[in-house]
Amino acid sequence: MTTIADSIVQTEALTKSISGKAVVNEVNIKIERGDIYGFLGPNGAGKTTTIRLLLGLTKPTSGTVRLFDRDIRNHRLDVLRKVGSLVEYPSYYGHLTAVENLEAVRRLLDVPKERIDDVLAIVRLTKDAGRQVKGYSLGMKQRLGIATALLGNPELLILDEPTNGLDPAGIQEIRELIISLPRTKGVTILISSHLLSEVEQMATRVGIIAKGSMVYQNSISHLREQAISRIRFTVNDPASAYPLLRSSGYEAEWDDRSLTIGRADNASTAEAVALLVKHHYDVYRVEEQTASLESLFLEMTGGERSL
Ligand SMILES: Nc1ncnc2c1ncn2[C@@H]1O[C@H](COP(=O)(O)OP(=O)(O)O)[C@@H](O)[C@H]1O
Ligand SMILES: [Mg+2]
Repeated sequence: MTTIADSIVQTEALTKSISGKAVVNEVNIKIERGDIYGFLGPNGAGKTTTIRLLLGLTKPTSGTVRLFDRDIRNHRLDVLRKVGSLVEYPSYYGHLTAVENLEAVRRLLDVPKERIDDVLAIVRLTKDAGRQVKGYSLGMKQRLGIATALLGNPELLILDEPTNGLDPAGIQEIRELIISLPRTKGVTILISSHLLSEVEQMATRVGIIAKGSMVYQNSISHLREQAISRIRFTVNDPASAYPLLRSSGYEAEWDDRSLTIGRADNASTAEAVALLVKHHYDVYRVEEQTASLESLFLEMTGGERSL
């Protein structure tokens, strides 16, 4: 028996042009039930615009959005009932308490009163729930935003850069909260970020967008495998061994202790060792060097550091 994965978000050639420029360009997103999908890209890449398209907050120029396997054009209210979101900065009334803010949304959603205590506990705001929100730290406000997004028991939670502006402790807290959700509540999550390091520990899948186009979409483990392998040989005379490797077709670099070849698989590594030994070099060490995920991310997104 084959089980068909449960499609939660699927876009097809999703495109949004603003003043004739495609800020979201033929994007195909695929998210399945239980995924924590890290939606990555530098500032200005098109993440928020894509998220607004998913939520029906703006209309695509072309392409389609399916949530829970239904086209949002025909089933907007049905599907959005099952979605909780926090897009850019959460909105709240500063002079009201967290409970009062949640109560205002609860009435709109028409969920039971107990749900307020539940979501406050999930985001660990129970103790501060009776305080005016204007006295909250940024992290507490973000957590209140997530609590609001969770109020309607969503099956899909969409968080647009929820850790923006938080200190490392606040980032860690939000990360732990997010990791705990799918396990305990059966929620599928899309979380956007301009920092790979922020989502790589929690995402099961990642989509990377650059200048409006999706440049990568797959599991995080597949991304790690993509990190290009280089092999470093520590040899007795790298300067003279370097032209030997170059003339044999290797992409090589050298320093005073070692030679490094790029894009090396097992066969080319073995051949390089044989070549060096045949020419009487002493090969002291053969080591693999893996490019960091971060450098791969920067390469895919055009090398702009966003922080
Ligand atoms: N309403 C708008 N009018 C004009 N340009 C916009 C508008 N919304 C977004 N953009 C442009 O679209 C691009 C993508 O923006 P955005 O989706 O906010 O990116 P991200 O969330 O990845 O930082 C940017 O170049 C931005 O300036
Ligand atoms: Mg944004």
